[in-house]
Amino acid sequence: MSCENCACGEKKLDILTKFPENLKGLDKYIATLPLGEDVDRNRGFLIQVLHKAQEIFSYIPLELQLHVANQLGLHLSEVYGVISFYSYFTDKPVGKYKINICTGTACFVKGAGNVLDEFKRYLNLEDGETSKDELFSLGSLRCVGACSLAPVVMVNDKVYGNVTTQMVPEIINECQ
Ligand code: FES
Repeated sequence: MSCENCACGEKKLDILTKFPENLKGLDKYIATLPLGEDVDRNRGFLIQVLHKAQEIFSYIPLELQLHVANQLGLHLSEVYGVISFYSYFTDKPVGKYKINICTGTACFVKGAGNVLDEFKRYLNLEDGETSKDELFSLGSLRCVGACSLAPVVMVNDKVYGNVTTQMVPEIINECQ
């Protein structure tokens, strides 16, 4: 896929052009799979290829979906369907620090909504957005199984319990 112009008028490279080494790594991985003419058989490898693609690129935008579809001989809509079905996969850039606020019942009752609002305010992001510098992603999760610590916030794999709105700047500073 060729370059496209973004709103500011600057040339924006697609992810495949921007990271040729990543693309090489993905293609090398795909080459190890016993793919062939049988599309049904190839389809069986789709999820593992998408896992690898996300591991390498951190997200799977349209141009990468198209590349995977071509490599496996599948239609783009099949690849897109899998990505939209599984919440694990994302087609949007993800920040270095993924901040997720649990909004399950126990956390919500104990003020997770206010904590989420405070993160939104501090980071100037909405739920589901990533900062322009790709440092922070903000999101919400349903019960992470630590209800006794409600409200719970996760930053990548680190768990923060009994989080208050006052702790929000501290948590963000710890990331930087
Ligand atoms: S509801 Fe948040 S950890 Fe269970």
